Order: sequence, then structure tokens, then C-alpha cells
Amino acid sequence: MNQKELRVSKIKDGTVIDHIRRGYALDVVKILGITGKEKRVLTIAVNVPSKCFGAKDIVKIEGKLLNPQEVNRIALVAPHASINLIHDYLVVEKREVQLPKTFEGIIKCINPSCVSNSGEPINSKFHIKQEDPLMIKCHYCRIIIEQSDVLDQL
Ligand code: CTP
Ligand code: ZN
Repeated sequence: MNQKELRVSKIKDGTVIDHIRRGYALDVVKILGITGKEKRVLTIAVNVPSKCFGAKDIVKIEGKLLNPQEVNRIALVAPHASINLIHDYLVVEKREVQLPKTFEGIIKCINPSCVSNSGEPINSKFHIKQEDPLMIKCHYCRIIIEQSDVLDQL
């Protein structure tokens, strides 16, 4: 990559979330619980030209490695993202995010009378009906929740 193409600098150690669908970088940051008040360098690039997608977003978080739960959360808003672990400027691991078929506890069912909202110790649980745009189905009350309702909860 030559100097003219270099838009955001490389990082030394941390995580690069690449190939985020354009417009979703801020949702990725939000879903990770990053506020920007942490003492870490955070780079957000939105609408960057990309060979594969036309345009993409990128999030670079210095000094942070993601746990599997965080990777699953990213899949909810950016199903085609790739997660690059950087150590000493080198990409030491590259993972594609993958939506699990079923996930528990990340978001709440939107149906107030769902048993997962009853105050009983029952975790919310959803099955993926469609990845992109996201559509999930409550395991208990079978209501379908759309991507916009998921994003509203982040
Ligand atoms: N990156 C970075 N800092 C580094 C190394 C890489 O910020 N020290 C970023 C790159 O800018 C890129 C992503 O991490 O956005 C993945 O790096 P790399 O695998 O080198 O790029 P590509 O080959 O273009 O990745 P892919 O094949 O996944 O498109
Ligand atoms: Zn429900």
C-alpha cells in the first residue's frame, strides 16, 4: 500500500475489525461497549473504498483483544466482518465473524408478555431466521425481531 492510499495508520497491538458493512462502524463500537472515554486509541473509518464491497467501514482498537462473546455480538450488526488480531504490527490471526444459529442473553425479547421477560430466571434465547438484514425469532414466544429493533437495544 503506498502513501497515497494509506488512510488510517497501522496499529502495533490490538484488534482490527475490517469489512464492516458501510454505515455500521458506530454500531460495532457501541455493541462492544466502547465509549471513547477509555485510555486506548480507537480509529473508526467510515465509507472507505473497498475492492470487495465497494465501500466498507473499519474499526481499530489498540491494546484490546476480543473475547468470543464480543465476536458474536459483532456478527449481529456486521455479519461479514473479519477480525484481525495484531501483534507487533503483524496480523497474527484473522477470523471471519460467524453468527451462531442460536444465541442467548445479548438482547431482550420485544414481547412484554414473553416468558423471558417475566422476571423468572430465564435468559432470552433467539434463533437466526435470516442473516442480512438480520431477522431473529424468540425461542419462547416465537415473535420475529428485525434488525432495527436489535440495533435499538444496543
Ligand atoms: N492492519 C492494521 N495494523 C497492522 C496490520 C494490519 O491496522 N499492523 C489492518 C489493515 O489495514 C487491514 C486489516 O488490518 O485493514 C487486515 O490486514 P491485512 O490482512 O494485512 O490486509 P488484507 O490482506 O487487505 O486483509 P483481507 O485479506 O482480510 O482483506
Ligand atoms: Zn419472546
